[in-house]
Amino acid sequence: MPFITDDPNMLDDWLVVGPSTTLAGSSDAQPRTTRLLGETLHVWSDAAGAPQCRLGTQTLAIQSRYGYLWVCPSGKPTRPLFDVPEYGGPGRRMVDCGSIGVAVSGLRVIENFLDMAHFPFVHAGFLGKVPHTEVAKYQVQVDPATQEIWATDCRFWQPRASAAHDSGAEVTYKYRVMQPLTAMLYKSSHRAGELDAIALFLQPLDDEHVIAHTLLACYDDTSTDAELIAFQQTIFGQDKPILENHAFKRMPLEGRAETPTRGDTTSVTYRRWLRERGMRFGVREAA
Ligand SMILES: [Fe+2]
Repeated sequence: MPFITDDPNMLDDWLVVGPSTTLAGSSDAQPRTTRLLGETLHVWSDAAGAPQCRLGTQTLAIQSRYGYLWVCPSGKPTRPLFDVPEYGGPGRRMVDCGSIGVAVSGLRVIENFLDMAHFPFVHAGFLGKVPHTEVAKYQVQVDPATQEIWATDCRFWQPRASAAHDSGAEVTYKYRVMQPLTAMLYKSSHRAGELDAIALFLQPLDDEHVIAHTLLACYDDTSTDAELIAFQQTIFGQDKPILENHAFKRMPLEGRAETPTRGDTTSVTYRRWLRERGMRFGVREAA
């Protein structure tokens, strides 16, 4: 196996390698290139429109789902790709909010995505505002059927919760972690009883670099695509320098390496969940 890791959590799962639209106009003779786990892959659409992937002379398993390409490096996935039932749902807008490189372990990017406590400080005026810093108690559990982490009943006061919100409100959140490097959040939408969905799919370039792909599945009849994308990129642009300034690019999983802060029940569960699956990729070894 030529990849830079032997961690089965990476090799035997489906990893995102970019938006499916990158295959437009490609062919076996004119493939696109993308990076995964330290290697350069060639990807293209065959004559029947099916995605194909090659590493050197070796053919890799690839599929197109949710507007993105997913590759299984070992060719032996231990499970199917997770389900996104919201994708293409009636009345939902699907917006690819772009791809941003982040120079840090993807585990840190996911952990940050799950954390509400930083909203009033990092996303002041957007996702939070001092003095509304309270993270109310919420529920976290691992679904026994799918092994996915779910954080539910999360609530947070937000001054401008989305591109279309221009006044403050308490917003309801749910979080879901499908794989070590993929997660979704669900939050109050314009449509009564329905939640907008935002998916974060991380493409691991190596232990300390990812490309973050963000997909929006929202109810919004007023904002333009450009406005929705600009909002998501603004938020991500606020997180990026903080993520990249971690003293250690890789994430420690052992207990006291970094003292847990308030409101981080999800983070504690995420790190335990990673430990239990023997995660090594992107992990900082104990000193
Ligand atoms: Fe953030």
